Amino acid sequence: MAINTNSKFTANDVPQQQGRRALITGANSGIGFEAALELARHGAEVILPARTLDKANDAIARIRRDVPNAKLTPAILDLASLASVRAFAAFIVTNFPGQSLDLLINNAGVMGIPNRELTVDGYERQFATNYLGPFALTALLFPHLKPQPGTRIVVVASAIANQGKIAFDNLQAERNYNPMFGAYAQSKLADLIFQQELQRRLTAAGSPILSTGAHPGYAITNLQSSGPQGQEQLLFRIMAAILKPLASQDAHNGALPTLYAATSPSVTPGGYYGPSGFQELKGYPVPAKICPAAKDLALAKRLWTETEKLTGVTFNIS
Ligand SMILES: NC(=O)c1ccc[n+]([C@@H]2O[C@H](COP(=O)([O-])OP(=O)(O)OC[C@H]3O[C@@H](n4cnc5c(N)ncnc54)[C@H](OP(=O)(O)O)[C@@H]3O)[C@@H](O)[C@H]2O)c1
Repeated sequence: MAINTNSKFTANDVPQQQGRRALITGANSGIGFEAALELARHGAEVILPARTLDKANDAIARIRRDVPNAKLTPAILDLASLASVRAFAAFIVTNFPGQSLDLLINNAGVMGIPNRELTVDGYERQFATNYLGPFALTALLFPHLKPQPGTRIVVVASAIANQGKIAFDNLQAERNYNPMFGAYAQSKLADLIFQQELQRRLTAAGSPILSTGAHPGYAITNLQSSGPQGQEQLLFRIMAAILKPLASQDAHNGALPTLYAATSPSVTPGGYYGPSGFQELKGYPVPAKICPAAKDLALAKRLWTETEKLTGVTFNIS
């Protein structure tokens, strides 16, 4: 359960970001778009990769309506394809050479794909998009982050991580597929485990870079309409419909935990933030519950090793 504090962080509390370069995935929609807009409004240069250039350019046009002089770069990234992740990382190295990034926000995700789908790499689509792709992207871009205080890697997880289990004998849902409480929850628990383990490794290496995490609670975005469909998700849809008028928030407020994790001077190394209200569904950002599985050191080590094998990317932290 979230810890209540007296601080009520809003987008107005985002510190000035002039001179900082942020990269945020999934910024053409939902909370990613709102986070990108606020970072731009506060002076950050923002790189917005999307699945198509049209989607990235459309988001840029919408941000420019509010922030006409924003420095924004579109790009193509499909996190469900390791070749696309590598191509995008190469784009960054070419266009933003050296240690050039201040913020990497792993926000993009999919939820509750009704039937098991495999990616071009042969992995279950939610696990690949929400976890394997972001892990590979972070590992490939890590050498390009500025090794200085203020540099952060943010992972957007979900409160459903609390219901998740890393099933090493069913990682790709090869034995059975439960869209929401199986595959989606597993992918989001993997995100949280990654975020926590990354901080431990950064600390051990003496790195000034922080790994922080966030979840938006229940924010009304395209996630609900693009994801859960089909009979087996009826229960989830009924629950969501009941909670929506009582305990949901808009995408702008859903982005606050992400903005807090990315920019607040009050974060702690490895800090994980979510909404303050009932069941962490809505409210101002506060430290969020980290479930026991996300604190399991042996599980984190095993998952990291397995992920390097699955992605073919070695994550070197020095
Ligand atoms: N909304 C909530 O209540 C809630 C709760 C817990 C966690 N979250 C997490 O919050 C994050 C943002 O979700 P949202 O609610 O803002 O949903 P959203 O509006 O659907 O945005 C998701 C974003 O991810 C992008 N994306 C999906 N698949 C991708 C892929 N293969 N490669 C690259 N980008 C991809 C989408 O691009 P397209 O436009 O091309 O689909 C979109 O930009 C997700 O990680 C989600 O799991 C949301």
